[in-house]
Amino acid sequence: MRQVIVAGNWKMNTNKAEGEALVSGIKEGLGETSAEVLVFPPFPYLGGIVAAAEGSAIQTGSQDLYIEDNGAYTGEVSTAMLKDVGCTHVLVGHSERRHVLGECNKLINTKTRKGLADGLKVVLCVGELIEERQAWQMEAVLDEQMSWGLAGVTADEMASVVIAYEPVWAIGTGLTATPDQAEEAHKYLRGWLESHYSADVAENTRILYGGSVKPDNAAELIGQPNVDGALVGGASLKADSFLGIIAAAG
Ligand code: PGA
Repeated sequence: MRQVIVAGNWKMNTNKAEGEALVSGIKEGLGETSAEVLVFPPFPYLGGIVAAAEGSAIQTGSQDLYIEDNGAYTGEVSTAMLKDVGCTHVLVGHSERRHVLGECNKLINTKTRKGLADGLKVVLCVGELIEERQAWQMEAVLDEQMSWGLAGVTADEMASVVIAYEPVWAIGTGLTATPDQAEEAHKYLRGWLESHYSADVAENTRILYGGSVKPDNAAELIGQPNVDGALVGGASLKADSFLGIIAAAG
């Protein structure tokens, strides 16, 4: 049985006090849940959020990492720094990094492998643009992003990888994929894992859905056989709505 994950991607939102209040609110409201709960705050607040989450099951990850250990890379943050402040996870390949910041598949692959090599759990995000979906290219795009993103990642390392399917047209737009659309893509991704790794890896890898997940659509999405949780943007910025999604996840 795959354990469901509910993850909050705060993006470039909150300030220090708001972020710490948000994680405290999640901590207080988090009753018994079978879900794994993750938050991805902005870099400057990571240490404070880890401290605020202490004593709870909330795990903290970063929204990015850099591929070198240290040195003259102005503005970048290393895996050692992330682990030093208590991060356990990292997001790689988010559509905003691909399409707004211009990250290519090769860099995304290097980041995935760097995170895994240094002991972080990697949430690798994939997803098609609306024009790619309309041109019936969804599977081709997912195949390309998975092939590149996971190149050189071993079957053993896959135990530390989570895939997030985030159709770009559904991110921050209020246009959620229907449960059937999500399931179709997730089924494709699980099949991809089976053909490129093994039935075992396919069975055990969590595949999250992301794109306008809210408390009132979460249960139906997460209820699909191949949807193992949610990566939540906007609705993760309020403790109540994030807790509502966790409750919907069971
Ligand atoms: P959204 O963002 O929930 O605001 O659509 C999801 C994401 O980008 O991870």
